Amino acid sequence: MRNLLLAFALLATLGCAGPAGKPVQTSVTGDALYRNLGGTEGITRVVDAFLPRVNGDARINGLFLKVDHDDLRHLIIEQLCTATGGPCTYTGRSMQEAHSGLNLTNADFNAFVEDLVAAMDQVKVRKTSQRELLALLAPMRMQIVGQ
Ligand code: HEM
Repeated sequence: MRNLLLAFALLATLGCAGPAGKPVQTSVTGDALYRNLGGTEGITRVVDAFLPRVNGDARINGLFLKVDHDDLRHLIIEQLCTATGGPCTYTGRSMQEAHSGLNLTNADFNAFVEDLVAAMDQVKVRKTSQRELLALLAPMRMQIVGQ
């Protein structure tokens, strides 16, 4: 877990974001990561393991009290599907817009990522796929933290 988070922190400083913080779709990987995660079904399993962890995480769950959880679930599935090269279109707001006014810190971001890694471990996503997914999310940190 520690190595994965370290790699993630490194990628966050090296990465670059797409326009307006939208997920970056890489032509290098095509839809390989989407397929390796088990497609929309596999991504849904990850998100359904992830959101209860966030809701049970006292470090950050206060931020989600007024959030419509079904909407958030749907948008995160859509976003991860799009970012990993799947046949979806993300219909939500940009990361900057969605997190504006929340004043999120790096600690909030790290807690969120820890919950995601734990969820991926829980549903047995391979570490190589975990690293690839975290590498896609890392550049979003700058659109999310401090907005
Ligand atoms: C790479 C990391 C993250 C991703 C991919 C992500 C993704 C998303 C998405 C797709 C939405 C819905 C956008 C919309 O409503 O149109 C959202 C909203 C939200 N996110 Fe994040 N998020 C990330 C990090 C975080 C962190 C670190 C926190 C707090 C600890 C957080 C808290 C929230 C909250 C509270 C909302 C609802 C905002 C509202 O409805 O006003 N997010 N996020």
